[in-house]
Amino acid sequence: MNINKNYLGSINGSDVFQYTLVNDLSTKVQILTLGASIQSIVLPFSDGTDKNVILSYDNWETYQHNPLYLGATLAPNAGRIEGAVLPIYEKTYTLSQNEGNHNTHGGFHNASLQNWDEVSTHCNSASCSVTLTIKLSDGLDGYPGERCIQTCYSLTNDNSLKIHYYAVTDKATYLNISNHTYFNLSGDFNRSGLEQQIKVDASRFVANNNEHIPASIVSCSGSPFDFSTYTSLETNIALHPDHEQLSIAHGYNNAFIFDQMNNQLKKTLSIRDRSSEYIMELSTDAPGIVLYSGGYIGDQWNLAGGFKSSDSCAIALEAQDIPNSPNFLPELCCYTTPDCPYDRTIIFKFISD
Ligand code: GLA
Repeated sequence: MNINKNYLGSINGSDVFQYTLVNDLSTKVQILTLGASIQSIVLPFSDGTDKNVILSYDNWETYQHNPLYLGATLAPNAGRIEGAVLPIYEKTYTLSQNEGNHNTHGGFHNASLQNWDEVSTHCNSASCSVTLTIKLSDGLDGYPGERCIQTCYSLTNDNSLKIHYYAVTDKATYLNISNHTYFNLSGDFNRSGLEQQIKVDASRFVANNNEHIPASIVSCSGSPFDFSTYTSLETNIALHPDHEQLSIAHGYNNAFIFDQMNNQLKKTLSIRDRSSEYIMELSTDAPGIVLYSGGYIGDQWNLAGGFKSSDSCAIALEAQDIPNSPNFLPELCCYTTPDCPYDRTIIFKFISD
């Protein structure tokens, strides 16, 4: 177990650091203070090569505006709030509109665009961790409450990357924090991310309108959203080529609602690829997950490893509340208050196949 801190440079007077966490299996995870982002997850393969299995820009500076939200911490709210209108108990707040009429990922000043501060680093024989923090001021992008958010990344010797979010506020507010890492377990970003197979413990998904705003809850059965057994995204797309939801998102950009919604940490989704030696198991205590298959990535980004981006070259898995919960599912919506801090965990576990 080892952690190494590297000074990368200064942006607007704020120092940017990179943390490299390495476990005893030689898995290496790099974290940036910019956006508290996961910059790379490098796994050792049996042919002696090390492969980064997540989408990464070829230089750290791009993470300051991070147009694809690569690896970023999404906060205060992952996803879209319809019409930028946020009800919290008896009050309604008007948020900034950073995507059409809507508020996405918390608005123009969201936490993925901030340079976070270090709280601490730790290393022992079982795990290595770094905890980063950001303060979002009361009223920033319209959200109430001075919110102090912590993201802790721990790499363990069972090959898990655990992400723990903890936040306090001085006023009732809405927090729905997630991570926006895109995976292609083959480590080859010239291969389509749609070749990956996923399995999700969800029998319902959320259908969106054409602005990616949740519109209805639909059964997965008999649809391209049936991932009850390992199925590649491209197989399900080929079976339902004219499905309206797939056309809207150029693939998938939908939330799955987990069958068990009891706030307990549970294994909810697995992903594998026939060109990879690793399966990734995702555990979380969130009620759902957004699968974004990267239909809007574009081909203009230079990626780490000398790759060039392309649509769907990797897929994002964003464990979170059902998007737009305050408006769409108020009965399920959970607010963060001074008495009830925010607490959420996401674990990516890499198992050699
Ligand atoms: C953001 C969201 C994704 C997806 C894309 C579409 O990155 O996090 O889920 O909606 O926008 O551009």
